[in-house]
Amino acid sequence: MTRILAVANQKGGVGKTTSTVNLAAALAETGYHVLVVDLDPQGNASTALGIDHHSGVPGTYEVLTDDARLADIVVNCPDHPRLWVAPATLDLAGAEIELVSLVARETRLAKAISEHLSSHRSQHAVDLDFIFIDCPPSLGLLTINAFVAAREVLLPIQCEYYALEGVSQLLRTMELVKAHLNPELVIGPVLLTMYDGRTRLSTQVADEVRTHFTDQVLPTVIPRSVRLSEAPSFGQTILTYDAYSAGAIAYRSAATELAGPRG
Ligand SMILES: Nc1ncnc2c1ncn2[C@@H]1O[C@H](COP(=O)(O)OP(=O)(O)OP(=O)(O)O)[C@@H](O)[C@H]1O
Ligand SMILES: [Mg+2]
Repeated sequence: MTRILAVANQKGGVGKTTSTVNLAAALAETGYHVLVVDLDPQGNASTALGIDHHSGVPGTYEVLTDDARLADIVVNCPDHPRLWVAPATLDLAGAEIELVSLVARETRLAKAISEHLSSHRSQHAVDLDFIFIDCPPSLGLLTINAFVAAREVLLPIQCEYYALEGVSQLLRTMELVKAHLNPELVIGPVLLTMYDGRTRLSTQVADEVRTHFTDQVLPTVIPRSVRLSEAPSFGQTILTYDAYSAGAIAYRSAATELAGPRG
């Protein structure tokens, strides 16, 4: 069965994209087949995975507003043979508004993903093990589409001031989606990011998050690391950019925890 995770937190810059691309790459590296769906008009996940996403490249915008098939827009990541990417272009910025007047506006991504998975199966292609949907920093229709398509919400939380600010609003949005559109949706895993062990603040935030979300929080914390922030400008994940850095080791370990024992 394919695990579908929406990587979401409407707070900006908390590590959604960094976590999406590096967890996806770490899982692909260990043999899983993984698809990253870039649902952020900024296209940061596409950039970080070395995927062209200039205007005119067909991407998630066409899937959401034009009924394009995922199979027609998905591309293979150059550095990771088992990793595929559905890129996002700036056009997607308009989708938030264009979707409002379309039928089934909240369920378009879910439909595209389920068609993609069933066509894979009917062609006896390898099954995808994981789909990560990198959400924009808002709770608009793009994120709602991700919540309807996903089974799990992967919540990155930055170990900084106001870490839990906005989380209750995110949980309320999730509850609405659960009640009306996707009863199977669950919160978790929660991933602590940009942890700085030298500061008491990071430790306090980590403790507070573990008290709040208990065992939904992955044991591994992602350290603050300059190497992690440098990798995207080379169109690389940390796994190829600096394979033995603290960030690479942490994301590999978090990926192993996320995947659980192989069944
Ligand atoms: N562990 C880390 N250590 C140092 N820098 C990091 C770390 N994780 C992310 N960053 C940097 O912090 C910034 C924000 O990270 P990222 O883009 O992953 O967040 P985001 O939640 O996707 O942001 P947005 O809300 O804009 O989509 C980026 O410049 C990224 O390179
Ligand atoms: Mg992002």
